[in-house]
Amino acid sequence: MRVAVIGLGKLGAPLAAVLASKGNDVLGVDVSPSAVQLLNAGRAPVDEPGLQELVSASRDRLSATTDAAEASAADVSILLVPTPSDDRGAFSNEHLLAASDVLGRGLAERDDYHVVVIGSTVMPGSCDADIRPALERASGRRIGDNLGLCYSPEFIALGNVIRDLLAPDVVLIGESDTRAGDALERLYAGVCENDPPFRRMNLVNAELTKIAVNTYVTMKISYANTLADICERLPGADVETVTDALGLDSRIGQKYLRGAVAYGGPCFPRDNKAFGVLARDLGAEPLLAEATDAVNNAQIQRLAGIVQSRLKNGETVGILGLAYKPDTGVVEASAGVALARLLGEAGYDVRIYDPVATQTAVDALDGLAQGSASAAELLDQADMAVIATPWPEFAEVAIGGLERAGGPRVVIDCWRILPDDVGGEAVEIVHLGRTLEQPIPV
Ligand SMILES: NC(=O)c1ccc[n+]([C@@H]2O[C@H](COP(=O)([O-])OP(=O)(O)OC[C@H]3O[C@@H](n4cnc5c(N)ncnc54)[C@H](O)[C@@H]3O)[C@@H](O)[C@H]2O)c1
Repeated sequence: MRVAVIGLGKLGAPLAAVLASKGNDVLGVDVSPSAVQLLNAGRAPVDEPGLQELVSASRDRLSATTDAAEASAADVSILLVPTPSDDRGAFSNEHLLAASDVLGRGLAERDDYHVVVIGSTVMPGSCDADIRPALERASGRRIGDNLGLCYSPEFIALGNVIRDLLAPDVVLIGESDTRAGDALERLYAGVCENDPPFRRMNLVNAELTKIAVNTYVTMKISYANTLADICERLPGADVETVTDALGLDSRIGQKYLRGAVAYGGPCFPRDNKAFGVLARDLGAEPLLAEATDAVNNAQIQRLAGIVQSRLKNGETVGILGLAYKPDTGVVEASAGVALARLLGEAGYDVRIYDPVATQTAVDALDGLAQGSASAAELLDQADMAVIATPWPEFAEVAIGGLERAGGPRVVIDCWRILPDDVGGEAVEIVHLGRTLEQPIPV
Protein backbone atom coordinates (compact mmCIF):
# COMPACT_ATOMS: atom_id res chain seq x y z
CA MET A 1 0.00 0.00 0.00
CA ARG A 2 0.98 3.65 -0.32
CA VAL A 3 1.04 5.03 3.21
CA ALA A 4 1.82 8.51 4.54
CA VAL A 5 2.89 9.00 8.15
CA ILE A 6 2.37 12.60 9.26
CA GLY A 7 4.56 13.45 12.27
CA LEU A 8 8.01 11.80 12.30
CA GLY A 9 8.60 11.89 16.05
CA LYS A 10 9.19 9.21 18.67
CA LEU A 11 6.25 7.19 17.41
CA GLY A 12 5.78 8.28 13.78
CA ALA A 13 9.37 7.69 12.65
CA PRO A 14 9.46 4.07 13.90
CA LEU A 15 5.99 3.41 12.43
CA ALA A 16 7.05 4.79 9.04
CA ALA A 17 10.13 2.55 9.05
CA VAL A 18 8.19 -0.54 10.16
CA LEU A 19 5.55 0.00 7.45
CA ALA A 20 8.28 0.42 4.81
CA SER A 21 10.11 -2.67 6.05
CA LYS A 22 6.96 -4.68 5.32
CA GLY A 23 6.87 -3.60 1.67
CA ASN A 24 4.67 -0.50 1.79
CA ASP A 25 5.66 2.68 -0.04
CA VAL A 26 5.90 5.19 2.76
CA LEU A 27 5.96 8.98 2.63
CA GLY A 28 6.94 10.61 5.92
CA VAL A 29 5.68 14.13 6.56
CA ASP A 30 6.88 16.57 9.20
CA VAL A 31 6.82 20.33 9.66
CA SER A 32 10.40 20.04 10.88
CA PRO A 33 12.74 20.31 7.84
CA SER A 34 15.52 18.58 9.78
CA ALA A 35 13.42 15.44 10.39
CA VAL A 36 12.58 15.35 6.67
CA GLN A 37 16.19 15.88 5.59
CA LEU A 38 17.43 13.16 7.94
CA LEU A 39 14.92 10.60 6.67
CA ASN A 40 15.64 11.50 3.05
CA ALA A 41 19.34 11.01 3.82
CA GLY A 42 18.60 7.54 5.18
CA ARG A 43 19.07 8.57 8.82
CA ALA A 44 16.66 7.98 11.70
CA PRO A 45 15.11 11.29 12.83
CA VAL A 46 14.80 10.07 16.47
CA ASP A 47 16.76 7.71 18.72
CA GLU A 48 15.03 4.38 19.16
CA PRO A 49 16.64 0.93 19.35
CA GLY A 50 16.58 -0.80 15.93
CA LEU A 51 15.24 2.23 14.05
CA GLN A 52 18.39 3.14 12.13
CA GLU A 53 18.75 -0.43 10.92
CA LEU A 54 15.16 -0.47 9.61
CA VAL A 55 15.53 2.93 7.93
CA SER A 56 18.76 1.80 6.26
CA ALA A 57 17.19 -1.45 5.09
CA SER A 58 14.08 0.26 3.64
CA ARG A 59 15.55 3.35 1.98
CA ASP A 60 14.04 2.61 -1.42
CA ARG A 61 10.51 2.59 0.04
CA LEU A 62 10.90 5.53 2.43
CA SER A 63 10.93 9.23 1.55
CA ALA A 64 9.84 12.41 3.30
CA THR A 65 8.42 15.88 2.71
CA THR A 66 7.32 18.91 4.72
CA ASP A 67 4.12 19.24 2.67
CA ALA A 68 1.23 17.26 4.18
CA ALA A 69 -0.82 17.86 1.00
CA GLU A 70 1.44 15.30 -0.73
CA ALA A 71 0.06 12.66 1.64
CA SER A 72 -3.21 12.84 -0.32
CA ALA A 73 -1.60 10.65 -3.02
CA ALA A 74 -1.35 7.74 -0.53
CA ASP A 75 -4.08 5.17 0.14
CA VAL A 76 -3.84 5.68 3.90
CA SER A 77 -2.38 8.54 5.93
CA ILE A 78 -1.63 8.13 9.61
CA LEU A 79 -1.39 11.25 11.79
CA LEU A 80 1.04 11.05 14.72
CA VAL A 81 1.51 14.69 15.59
CA PRO A 82 1.71 15.98 19.18
CA THR A 83 -1.42 16.51 21.24
CA PRO A 84 -0.06 18.68 24.08
CA SER A 85 -1.91 18.87 27.40
CA ASP A 86 -3.66 22.15 28.17
CA ASP A 87 -3.78 23.81 31.62
CA ARG A 88 -6.50 21.45 32.84
CA GLY A 89 -4.80 18.31 31.51
CA ALA A 90 -7.01 17.82 28.41
CA PHE A 91 -5.25 17.07 25.09
CA SER A 92 -5.23 19.84 22.50
CA ASN A 93 -6.09 18.96 18.88
CA GLU A 94 -4.43 22.06 17.41
CA HIS A 95 -1.67 20.17 15.53
CA LEU A 96 -4.07 17.46 14.37
CA LEU A 97 -6.40 20.11 12.97
CA ALA A 98 -3.53 21.94 11.26
CA ALA A 99 -2.30 18.73 9.62
CA SER A 100 -5.87 17.67 8.71
CA ASP A 101 -6.43 21.01 7.02
CA VAL A 102 -3.35 20.74 4.76
CA LEU A 103 -4.03 17.06 4.01
CA GLY A 104 -7.70 17.81 3.33
CA ARG A 105 -6.82 20.53 0.84
CA GLY A 106 -4.57 18.02 -0.94
CA LEU A 107 -7.44 15.53 -1.01
CA ALA A 108 -9.69 18.18 -2.58
CA GLU A 109 -7.48 18.00 -5.69
CA ARG A 110 -7.99 14.23 -6.11
CA ASP A 111 -10.88 11.81 -6.10
CA ASP A 112 -9.44 8.36 -5.30
CA TYR A 113 -10.41 6.65 -2.02
CA HIS A 114 -8.34 7.65 1.02
CA VAL A 115 -8.38 6.71 4.69
CA VAL A 116 -7.20 9.15 7.35
CA VAL A 117 -6.03 7.44 10.54
CA ILE A 118 -5.57 9.36 13.78
CA GLY A 119 -2.85 7.71 15.88
CA SER A 120 -2.25 10.58 18.31
CA THR A 121 -3.81 10.35 21.75
CA VAL A 122 -6.96 12.51 21.84
CA MET A 123 -9.81 13.38 24.20
CA PRO A 124 -12.58 10.85 23.47
CA GLY A 125 -15.11 12.42 21.12
CA SER A 126 -12.44 14.37 19.17
CA CYS A 127 -12.63 12.41 15.93
CA ASP A 128 -16.37 12.89 15.51
CA ALA A 129 -16.61 16.41 16.93
CA ASP A 130 -13.42 18.04 15.57
CA ILE A 131 -11.43 15.98 13.05
CA ARG A 132 -14.35 14.77 10.91
CA PRO A 133 -15.73 18.29 10.19
CA ALA A 134 -12.22 19.70 9.64
CA LEU A 135 -11.40 17.01 7.07
CA GLU A 136 -14.77 17.30 5.33
CA ARG A 137 -14.47 21.10 5.16
CA ALA A 138 -10.93 21.11 3.75
CA SER A 139 -11.39 18.20 1.32
CA GLY A 140 -14.90 18.94 0.11
CA ARG A 141 -15.54 15.19 0.60
CA ARG A 142 -17.92 13.41 2.96
CA ILE A 143 -16.59 10.77 5.32
CA GLY A 144 -18.20 7.48 4.30
CA ASP A 145 -18.07 8.33 0.57
CA ASN A 146 -14.55 8.38 -0.86
CA LEU A 147 -12.98 9.30 2.46
CA GLY A 148 -12.67 7.11 5.58
CA LEU A 149 -11.67 8.08 9.11
CA CYS A 150 -10.13 5.72 11.69
CA TYR A 151 -8.73 6.14 15.19
CA SER A 152 -5.99 3.61 15.82
CA PRO A 153 -3.54 4.17 18.69
CA GLU A 154 -0.28 2.28 19.06
CA PHE A 155 0.37 0.65 22.43
CA ILE A 156 4.13 1.05 22.66
CA ALA A 157 6.79 1.70 25.26
CA LEU A 158 9.68 3.95 24.23
CA GLY A 159 12.83 1.89 23.86
CA ASN A 160 10.71 -1.02 22.65
CA VAL A 161 8.69 0.72 19.94
CA ILE A 162 9.70 -1.44 16.98
CA ARG A 163 9.06 -4.72 18.76
CA ASP A 164 5.76 -3.40 20.11
CA LEU A 165 4.65 -2.32 16.62
CA LEU A 166 5.56 -5.69 15.12
CA ALA A 167 3.96 -7.75 17.89
CA PRO A 168 1.14 -5.85 19.61
CA ASP A 169 -1.15 -7.47 22.21
CA VAL A 170 -4.12 -6.10 20.26
CA VAL A 171 -4.78 -3.91 17.24
CA LEU A 172 -7.47 -1.40 18.04
CA ILE A 173 -9.37 0.12 15.13
CA GLY A 174 -12.02 2.76 15.61
CA GLU A 175 -13.73 3.32 12.25
CA SER A 176 -16.17 5.70 10.60
CA ASP A 177 -17.41 2.83 8.43
CA THR A 178 -16.54 -0.75 7.45
CA ARG A 179 -14.65 0.14 4.26
CA ALA A 180 -12.24 2.38 6.22
CA GLY A 181 -11.70 -0.25 8.94
CA ASP A 182 -11.17 -3.01 6.34
CA ALA A 183 -8.43 -0.97 4.64
CA LEU A 184 -6.62 -0.35 7.92
CA GLU A 185 -6.97 -3.96 9.06
CA ARG A 186 -5.38 -5.09 5.75
CA LEU A 187 -2.48 -2.69 6.30
CA TYR A 188 -1.78 -3.75 9.90
CA ALA A 189 -2.34 -7.46 9.22
CA GLY A 190 0.60 -7.20 6.81
CA VAL A 191 2.79 -5.65 9.51
CA CYS A 192 2.13 -7.68 12.66
CA GLU A 193 4.28 -10.76 13.07
CA ASN A 194 2.28 -12.29 15.94
CA ASP A 195 -1.26 -12.62 14.52
CA PRO A 196 -2.80 -10.38 17.22
CA PRO A 197 -6.52 -10.00 17.86
CA PHE A 198 -8.10 -7.07 16.04
CA ARG A 199 -10.82 -5.14 17.86
CA ARG A 200 -12.93 -2.95 15.60
CA MET A 201 -15.36 -0.46 17.03
CA ASN A 202 -16.68 3.05 16.58
CA LEU A 203 -14.35 6.02 16.91
CA VAL A 204 -15.23 7.09 20.44
CA ASN A 205 -14.87 3.61 21.94
CA ALA A 206 -11.37 3.35 20.47
CA GLU A 207 -10.43 6.81 21.76
CA LEU A 208 -11.64 5.89 25.24
CA THR A 209 -9.94 2.47 25.21
CA LYS A 210 -6.58 4.10 24.49
CA ILE A 211 -6.54 6.32 27.58
CA ALA A 212 -8.32 3.65 29.66
CA VAL A 213 -5.41 1.22 29.04
CA ASN A 214 -2.81 3.68 30.30
CA THR A 215 -4.98 4.76 33.22
CA TYR A 216 -5.34 1.14 34.29
CA VAL A 217 -1.59 0.55 34.06
CA THR A 218 -0.79 3.70 36.08
CA MET A 219 -3.26 2.51 38.72
CA LYS A 220 -1.25 -0.74 39.02
CA ILE A 221 2.01 1.20 39.38
CA SER A 222 0.59 3.49 42.06
CA TYR A 223 -0.80 0.42 43.84
CA ALA A 224 2.62 -1.26 43.82
CA ASN A 225 4.24 1.98 45.04
CA THR A 226 1.76 2.14 47.92
CA LEU A 227 2.72 -1.43 48.83
CA ALA A 228 6.41 -0.43 48.68
CA ASP A 229 5.74 2.46 51.06
CA ILE A 230 4.01 0.06 53.47
CA CYS A 231 6.86 -2.47 53.22
CA GLU A 232 9.43 0.23 54.07
CA ARG A 233 7.60 0.75 57.39
CA LEU A 234 6.61 -2.87 58.17
CA PRO A 235 9.28 -5.01 59.90
CA GLY A 236 10.37 -7.95 57.74
CA ALA A 237 8.47 -6.85 54.63
CA ASP A 238 9.73 -6.87 51.01
CA VAL A 239 7.60 -5.48 48.21
CA GLU A 240 9.20 -7.71 45.56
CA THR A 241 8.14 -10.87 47.39
CA VAL A 242 4.60 -9.56 47.77
CA THR A 243 4.07 -8.27 44.20
CA ASP A 244 5.65 -11.37 42.66
CA ALA A 245 3.11 -13.60 44.38
CA LEU A 246 0.28 -11.11 43.86
CA GLY A 247 0.97 -10.92 40.13
CA LEU A 248 0.72 -14.68 39.75
CA ASP A 249 -3.02 -14.35 40.35
CA SER A 250 -4.33 -14.39 36.79
CA ARG A 251 -6.84 -11.68 37.64
CA ILE A 252 -3.94 -9.33 38.40
CA GLY A 253 -0.82 -10.19 36.33
CA GLN A 254 2.80 -9.27 37.03
CA LYS A 255 3.44 -6.58 34.43
CA TYR A 256 3.93 -3.06 35.81
CA LEU A 257 3.44 -4.34 39.35
CA ARG A 258 6.81 -3.35 40.76
CA GLY A 259 7.03 -0.93 43.67
CA ALA A 260 9.80 1.60 43.02
CA VAL A 261 9.57 5.26 41.93
CA ALA A 262 6.86 7.42 40.33
CA TYR A 263 5.80 6.64 36.76
CA GLY A 264 6.84 9.29 34.22
CA GLY A 265 7.44 9.83 30.51
CA PRO A 266 5.33 11.55 27.88
CA CYS A 267 2.20 9.36 28.16
CA PHE A 268 1.32 7.84 31.55
CA PRO A 269 1.00 11.03 33.62
CA ARG A 270 -0.81 12.92 30.85
CA ASP A 271 -3.20 10.12 29.89
CA ASN A 272 -4.19 9.62 33.50
CA LYS A 273 -4.92 13.33 33.99
CA ALA A 274 -6.88 13.51 30.74
CA PHE A 275 -9.02 10.56 31.84
CA GLY A 276 -9.86 12.47 35.03
CA VAL A 277 -10.70 15.65 33.11
CA LEU A 278 -12.91 13.70 30.69
CA ALA A 279 -14.84 12.06 33.51
CA ARG A 280 -15.32 15.30 35.46
CA ASP A 281 -16.49 17.15 32.32
CA LEU A 282 -19.10 14.43 31.81
CA GLY A 283 -20.21 14.56 35.45
CA ALA A 284 -18.67 11.16 36.31
CA GLU A 285 -16.41 10.74 39.39
CA PRO A 286 -12.81 9.90 38.37
CA LEU A 287 -11.77 9.04 41.93
CA LEU A 288 -9.48 6.17 40.89
CA ALA A 289 -7.61 8.23 38.28
CA GLU A 290 -7.25 11.16 40.65
CA ALA A 291 -6.02 8.93 43.48
CA THR A 292 -3.54 7.30 41.09
CA ASP A 293 -2.22 10.73 40.17
CA ALA A 294 -2.06 11.86 43.82
CA VAL A 295 -0.18 8.68 44.82
CA ASN A 296 2.23 9.24 41.95
CA ASN A 297 2.86 12.86 42.91
CA ALA A 298 3.59 11.75 46.48
CA GLN A 299 6.36 9.36 45.36
CA ILE A 300 8.94 12.08 44.94
CA GLN A 301 8.47 13.12 48.60
CA ARG A 302 8.75 9.47 49.66
CA LEU A 303 12.04 9.13 47.78
CA ALA A 304 13.39 12.56 48.78
CA GLY A 305 12.51 11.84 52.42
CA ILE A 306 14.56 8.63 52.36
CA VAL A 307 17.47 10.38 50.64
CA GLN A 308 17.49 13.43 52.92
CA SER A 309 17.23 11.33 56.09
CA ARG A 310 20.67 9.94 55.24
CA LEU A 311 22.34 12.94 53.67
CA LYS A 312 24.53 15.17 55.83
CA ASN A 313 25.01 18.88 55.25
CA GLY A 314 27.64 19.64 52.65
CA GLU A 315 27.60 16.13 51.17
CA THR A 316 27.44 15.39 47.47
CA VAL A 317 24.56 13.29 46.17
CA GLY A 318 24.85 11.47 42.84
CA ILE A 319 21.83 10.33 40.83
CA LEU A 320 22.25 7.44 38.42
CA GLY A 321 19.46 7.39 35.81
CA LEU A 322 17.66 10.45 34.45
CA ALA A 323 15.65 8.84 31.63
CA TYR A 324 12.16 7.93 32.81
CA LYS A 325 12.90 4.30 31.92
CA PRO A 326 15.84 2.33 30.46
CA ASP A 327 16.46 2.27 26.68
CA THR A 328 15.25 5.80 26.06
CA GLY A 329 16.76 9.26 26.39
CA VAL A 330 13.43 10.88 27.32
CA VAL A 331 13.59 12.66 30.69
CA GLU A 332 10.05 14.09 30.70
CA ALA A 333 8.46 13.62 34.16
CA SER A 334 11.28 11.27 35.21
CA ALA A 335 11.88 10.43 38.86
CA GLY A 336 15.64 11.03 38.56
CA VAL A 337 15.20 14.56 37.23
CA ALA A 338 12.48 15.36 39.79
CA LEU A 339 14.78 14.19 42.60
CA ALA A 340 17.76 16.14 41.24
CA ARG A 341 15.62 19.28 41.01
CA LEU A 342 14.29 18.94 44.53
CA LEU A 343 17.74 18.31 46.04
CA GLY A 344 19.36 21.03 43.92
CA GLU A 345 16.74 23.53 45.04
CA ALA A 346 17.37 22.46 48.65
CA GLY A 347 21.02 23.49 48.16
CA TYR A 348 22.71 20.07 47.88
CA ASP A 349 25.63 19.47 45.53
CA VAL A 350 23.98 17.19 42.94
CA ARG A 351 25.84 15.11 40.31
CA ILE A 352 23.95 13.19 37.66
CA TYR A 353 24.70 10.51 35.08
CA ASP A 354 22.62 8.56 32.57
CA PRO A 355 23.93 6.35 29.73
CA VAL A 356 22.09 8.50 27.13
CA ALA A 357 20.34 11.41 28.84
CA THR A 358 22.95 13.21 30.99
CA GLN A 359 23.13 16.34 28.84
CA THR A 360 19.36 16.52 28.28
CA ALA A 361 18.87 16.35 32.04
CA VAL A 362 21.61 18.90 32.78
CA ASP A 363 19.86 21.29 30.37
CA ALA A 364 16.42 20.57 31.88
CA LEU A 365 17.78 21.18 35.38
CA ASP A 366 19.21 24.56 34.40
CA GLY A 367 22.19 24.73 36.77
CA LEU A 368 20.75 22.67 39.64
CA ALA A 369 22.97 19.63 38.91
CA GLN A 370 26.29 18.87 37.25
CA GLY A 371 26.75 16.03 34.78
CA SER A 372 29.31 13.28 35.43
CA ALA A 373 31.13 11.63 32.55
CA SER A 374 30.34 8.07 33.66
CA ALA A 375 28.66 6.05 36.39
CA ALA A 376 32.10 5.20 37.79
CA GLU A 377 33.07 8.89 37.96
CA LEU A 378 29.81 9.70 39.73
CA LEU A 379 30.44 6.99 42.31
CA ASP A 380 33.88 8.48 42.93
CA GLN A 381 32.41 11.98 43.42
CA ALA A 382 29.35 11.20 45.54
CA ASP A 383 28.92 10.64 49.29
CA MET A 384 25.54 9.11 48.49
CA ALA A 385 24.31 7.58 45.21
CA VAL A 386 20.70 7.01 44.17
CA ILE A 387 19.90 4.51 41.38
CA ALA A 388 16.72 6.06 39.99
CA THR A 389 16.45 4.22 36.63
CA PRO A 390 17.26 0.47 36.39
CA TRP A 391 19.73 0.62 33.48
CA PRO A 392 21.45 -2.80 33.65
CA GLU A 393 24.95 -1.25 33.45
CA PHE A 394 24.41 0.45 36.83
CA ALA A 395 24.38 -2.87 38.64
CA GLU A 396 27.72 -3.89 37.11
CA VAL A 397 29.44 -0.53 37.62
CA ALA A 398 28.13 -0.14 41.15
CA ILE A 399 29.11 -3.64 42.22
CA GLY A 400 32.64 -3.05 40.87
CA GLY A 401 32.85 0.53 42.19
CA LEU A 402 31.52 -0.08 45.69
CA GLU A 403 34.05 -2.72 46.46
CA ARG A 404 36.89 -0.25 46.67
CA ALA A 405 37.46 2.38 49.34
CA GLY A 406 36.42 5.98 48.75
CA GLY A 407 33.05 5.36 47.08
CA PRO A 408 29.70 6.56 48.46
CA ARG A 409 28.80 5.59 52.03
CA VAL A 410 25.10 5.11 51.14
CA VAL A 411 23.46 3.81 47.95
CA ILE A 412 19.69 4.14 47.58
CA ASP A 413 18.71 1.36 45.19
CA CYS A 414 15.19 2.28 44.02
CA TRP A 415 14.79 -0.83 41.81
CA ARG A 416 16.63 -3.34 44.01
CA ILE A 417 19.24 -4.18 41.36
CA LEU A 418 22.15 -4.54 43.83
CA PRO A 419 22.80 -7.43 46.21
CA ASP A 420 22.54 -6.61 49.94
CA ASP A 421 26.14 -7.26 50.79
CA VAL A 422 27.90 -5.32 48.03
CA GLY A 423 30.54 -2.98 49.42
CA GLY A 424 30.66 -4.85 52.74
CA GLU A 425 30.48 -2.92 56.03
CA ALA A 426 31.64 0.35 54.48
CA VAL A 427 28.53 0.96 52.35
CA GLU A 428 24.90 1.04 53.42
CA ILE A 429 22.64 -0.24 50.61
CA VAL A 430 19.08 1.00 51.05
CA HIS A 431 16.60 -0.89 48.89
CA LEU A 432 13.31 0.89 48.37
CA GLY A 433 10.34 -1.33 49.13
CA ARG A 434 12.08 -3.20 51.96
CA THR A 435 11.93 -2.49 55.68
CA LEU A 436 13.96 0.63 56.38
CA GLU A 437 16.13 0.83 59.47
CA GLN A 438 15.26 4.53 59.67
CA PRO A 439 11.67 4.78 58.40
CA ILE A 440 10.46 8.20 57.34
CA PRO A 441 8.11 9.76 59.90
CA VAL A 442 4.44 9.81 58.87
N1 LIG B 1 5.78 8.67 22.53
C1 LIG B 1 4.98 7.76 23.05
O1 LIG B 1 5.40 6.91 23.85
C2 LIG B 1 3.53 7.71 22.64
C3 LIG B 1 2.80 6.54 22.90
C4 LIG B 1 1.47 6.48 22.57
C5 LIG B 1 0.89 7.61 22.00
N2 LIG B 1 1.59 8.73 21.76
C6 LIG B 1 0.91 9.87 21.17
O2 LIG B 1 1.33 9.97 19.81
C7 LIG B 1 1.38 11.34 19.41
C8 LIG B 1 2.77 11.65 18.90
O3 LIG B 1 3.67 11.43 19.97
P1 LIG B 1 5.25 11.45 19.76
O4 LIG B 1 5.82 11.06 21.07
O5 LIG B 1 5.63 10.70 18.54
O6 LIG B 1 5.47 13.03 19.51
P2 LIG B 1 6.82 13.76 19.08
O7 LIG B 1 6.73 15.12 19.68
O8 LIG B 1 8.00 12.91 19.34
O9 LIG B 1 6.69 13.88 17.48
C9 LIG B 1 5.69 14.59 16.83
C10 LIG B 1 6.20 15.05 15.47
O10 LIG B 1 5.12 15.70 14.78
C11 LIG B 1 5.64 16.83 14.09
N3 LIG B 1 4.55 17.75 13.81
C12 LIG B 1 3.96 18.66 14.64
N4 LIG B 1 2.94 19.28 14.01
C13 LIG B 1 2.90 18.77 12.75
C14 LIG B 1 2.07 19.02 11.63
N5 LIG B 1 1.08 19.91 11.68
N6 LIG B 1 2.32 18.34 10.50
C15 LIG B 1 3.32 17.44 10.42
N7 LIG B 1 4.13 17.16 11.46
C16 LIG B 1 3.91 17.81 12.62
C17 LIG B 1 6.72 17.35 15.01
O11 LIG B 1 7.65 18.17 14.31
C18 LIG B 1 7.34 16.06 15.54
O12 LIG B 1 8.41 15.62 14.74
C19 LIG B 1 0.94 12.14 20.64
O13 LIG B 1 -0.45 12.35 20.59
C20 LIG B 1 1.27 11.22 21.77
O14 LIG B 1 0.49 11.50 22.92
C21 LIG B 1 2.91 8.80 22.05
